[in-house]
Amino acid sequence: MSCLAVSNVSRAFGGLRAVDRVSFDIGRGELVGLIGPNGSGKTTLLNILSGHQPAEAGEVRLGDEAIQGLRPERIAARGLQRMFQLTRVFRRMSALDNLMTAGRALGLAHPGALARAGILLEELALSRVSDLDAGQLSGGQQKLLEFGCCFMSPPRIALLDEPFAAVHPAMKETMARFIRAHHADGQTFLVVSHDMPVIVELCPRTICMNAGAVIADGPTRTVLNERSVIEAYLGGAGAA
Ligand SMILES: Nc1ncnc2c1ncn2[C@@H]1O[C@H](COP(=O)(O)OP(=O)(O)OP(=O)(O)O)[C@@H](O)[C@H]1O
Ligand SMILES: [Mg+2]
Repeated sequence: MSCLAVSNVSRAFGGLRAVDRVSFDIGRGELVGLIGPNGSGKTTLLNILSGHQPAEAGEVRLGDEAIQGLRPERIAARGLQRMFQLTRVFRRMSALDNLMTAGRALGLAHPGALARAGILLEELALSRVSDLDAGQLSGGQQKLLEFGCCFMSPPRIALLDEPFAAVHPAMKETMARFIRAHHADGQTFLVVSHDMPVIVELCPRTICMNAGAVIADGPTRTVLNERSVIEAYLGGAGAA
């Protein structure tokens, strides 16, 4: 059953086709990697899916509902949660309060949110720093915190934009362990990353974009061995 269906979605900036007629379907419970050279349109696509930027054309369906054109809060309330490439946390709020704020935005009652935040802090090895301001956490811990905010209420799909970038290997493994465990429980993910070993290890399926378009979509090892994918990486943005 389809969780997220993207049909012919496009977005240009001036003459640049940042996202060019992108279509794919993600089934419930899938863990899908999204790769592509710098500037290939991955973040712009995520911005469209989460409502942070409008698409010029195309349709996005979450379950059986069309969500394109809805505001980000409405899309988040429907169960699409995302993490940003440039970390976004409330720096002058404690780590715990960041999670509680995410929970409140999702309509969780205080006791439930507190219990859930405690579990997430434990699972993400952040319990020790839960009372520190998020701005005092290390870059990696801030990423883990933002990651945790996506899971205050299990989302229908989590879109993660470069969750492992500039994160210490131990924290990267904490995040990967979380993704593996929750995927095993049926959680759906779309993970953007330039970290090929992690993509290979985590994602059974991978989509590759180049110059705004999807150039490959299938089993991860097959995609990584496709000529067009290798050429896109070797040739830089614009190669096809
Ligand atoms: N607001 C904007 N205005 C103009 N051009 C933009 C804007 N946002 C993105 N672009 C351009 O669109 C293209 C796609 O950018 P995007 O950030 O989606 O790529 P990406 O695949 O996420 O790259 P990276 O791997 O470096 O994060 C780039 O050429 C970028 O410069
Ligand atoms: Mg990006």
